[in-house]
Amino acid sequence: MFHFGSSPHLDYPVMSNTNTSFAVLGSGGAGSISPFIVDALSEQPGVKKLNFASRSLPANAELVPVDYDDHSALVEIFKKYSIDVVVSTLPLPAVLDAQKKAAVAAKEAGVKLFVPSEYGFITFGLAGTGNILSEKDEFTAFLTSIGLPYSLFFTGAWIRFIPFFIGYESNQKVNIVGKGETPVSFTAEEDLAVPSGFIAHVTTTLPQSRLSNAHFRIQNEHLTLCQLADRLQKPFVFTDYIPGQEPYASLRAFLLSQFEAGTASTGWNHVEQRENPKDSDEAAGSANHLWEGYVWKKLEDIVGL
Ligand SMILES: NC(=O)c1ccc[n+]([C@@H]2O[C@H](COP(=O)([O-])OP(=O)(O)OC[C@H]3O[C@@H](n4cnc5c(N)ncnc54)[C@H](OP(=O)(O)O)[C@@H]3O)[C@@H](O)[C@H]2O)c1
Repeated sequence: MFHFGSSPHLDYPVMSNTNTSFAVLGSGGAGSISPFIVDALSEQPGVKKLNFASRSLPANAELVPVDYDDHSALVEIFKKYSIDVVVSTLPLPAVLDAQKKAAVAAKEAGVKLFVPSEYGFITFGLAGTGNILSEKDEFTAFLTSIGLPYSLFFTGAWIRFIPFFIGYESNQKVNIVGKGETPVSFTAEEDLAVPSGFIAHVTTTLPQSRLSNAHFRIQNEHLTLCQLADRLQKPFVFTDYIPGQEPYASLRAFLLSQFEAGTASTGWNHVEQRENPKDSDEAAGSANHLWEGYVWKKLEDIVGL
């Protein structure tokens, strides 16, 4: 876990939002998203920086080892640093375990906002469906039950994982399972978090009323796999299965089935089993505009094949 402390002597104007103290769960190891989030928060005005032994981090960051089973110690840590926002980057197996324990402690410590580990496909409406991502939705219901406000960030698939999704290493082609005609949201980890990325931007600038129990649907690109092949200027082939090492091959097969079904678009609506209308508040990428003036990266800025 990292802590971002509040800064009493700011060199820049204080924003209307008062979130200045952040705890990032799961930032002690080599997580895929936590380094981006930690760096992004450290760039935000009003948020102090951190330091970390195993990689170069901004100054003023603090690594705080925690035992998620030690409830009173967790409460004390959140209180000691007057944490406003807990941002979780824990993996799926920890969502209903360590993340839940952290949420209970955060509620008791008076934390204002919890950002659960989403950062992917829409999970709202999945509870009880048996989908492997349904535990994320069950966790949201848990936050509601304990009265801890939350913000959910949906990104679709991460751009940096595209070579894996398309099985590029197997034949240097875009391998398409299905028709490849369904739009998928692709988001850059950099824009989700670095520098001063979307999560850091909105949690430090939007009023609490706008952050509480909010869904943010972002994307850099909204492309079918056929369009993706075109943009990458790579040939594509249709296949039933992309071979690879387990458990990754099975995970990829599941993710590609979600691509094909449409659920990897951040405009997906699980309840109505369709894409939300383009001009609606729940459309794919509907939250992008909250980062005013920002030019979102293009696929080609991130992926070079
Ligand atoms: N949209 C996409 O394409 C995409 C791709 C990948 C991941 N994701 C999402 O991003 C989120 C983070 O995934 P990730 O792959 O970055 O996670 P990860 O690397 O597996 O884990 C992140 C950190 O969580 C802590 N951790 C791991 N297992 C734990 C456990 N059982 N209990 C408590 N803490 C544990 C570790 O940090 P410490 O050492 O500090 O404890 C670890 O470094 C997930 O919600 C995942 O679904 C999305």
